[in-house]
Amino acid sequence: MIPPRILDWVALIEQLQEGDRESLCDHFLSLDQDDRRLRFGLPVNDSHIKRYVGEIDFDRSFVYGVRRGAGDWLGIGHLIPGPNDAELGLSVLPDARGHGLGAAIFRYAVGQASRQGTERLYMHFLTTNRAILSIARSAGMQIGSSGGESDAYLVVPTPDELVQLLITERDTA
Ligand SMILES: CC(C)(COP(=O)(O)OP(=O)(O)OC[C@H]1O[C@@H](n2cnc3c(N)ncnc32)[C@H](O)[C@@H]1OP(=O)(O)O)[C@@H](O)C(=O)NCCC(=O)NCCS
Repeated sequence: MIPPRILDWVALIEQLQEGDRESLCDHFLSLDQDDRRLRFGLPVNDSHIKRYVGEIDFDRSFVYGVRRGAGDWLGIGHLIPGPNDAELGLSVLPDARGHGLGAAIFRYAVGQASRQGTERLYMHFLTTNRAILSIARSAGMQIGSSGGESDAYLVVPTPDELVQLLITERDTA
C-alpha cells in the first residue's frame, strides 16, 4: 500500500458531466436539512434540489468532485461563472469531513478560476458556518458580514502568478 502522506484529495478530483446529473442529485439529496441550509443558504426541499441540478449547464459552469465508488460523490464543488466573479458552492458528506477535502475542493476552484481568467472568486455563506469561514480565512479572502450572512472574495491570481507563488513564496509565507 502506498503511504497516505503522498496522497492529496486534489489528485482524485474529477469533472462531472451531463451523465453525472443523477448521482450529483443524490449527493445533494443525502444532505440533511441543516447542511442543505449551509450549502444553499436557505432551507431547500427535494424538489428544489432536483430543479437546481436539472438546470445546471455543464458546459457553462464547472462541477467537480471526489467519489468513493461509481457515482458516490463524497465532495462536490460547483463553480458558476458570472461577468466578473465566479461563485463557488461546495459540500462534503458528513462522514468525510475534517480530512481536508473541503479545502482541496476550494484550492481546485482557485486553479480552475485562474485558468478561466476569472477576476474574483466569490463565496456566500452563513456567518455561523465555521468550516467554510476557516477555509475563506486561510485563503486570505476579503470577508464582509451582515445580518448573519457573509460574502467572501478572492482576487484570483493568473496561472503564471500561481506558479510563481508556489516556487518563490510558499516557504517564506
Ligand atoms: C464546509 C465543508 C465543505 C467543509 O468540508 P471539510 O471537508 O470538512 O473541510 P476541511 O476538512 O478541508 O476543513 C477546512 C477547514 O475547516 C475547519 N473545520 C472543519 N470543520 C469544522 C467545524 N465543524 N468547526 C470549525 N472548523 C471546522 C478545519 O479545521 C479546516 O480549517 P484549517 O483550514 O484552518 O485547517 C463541509 O463542512 C460541508 O459540506 N458543510 C455543509 C455545506 C456547506 O457549508 N457548504 C459551504 C457553503 S457553500
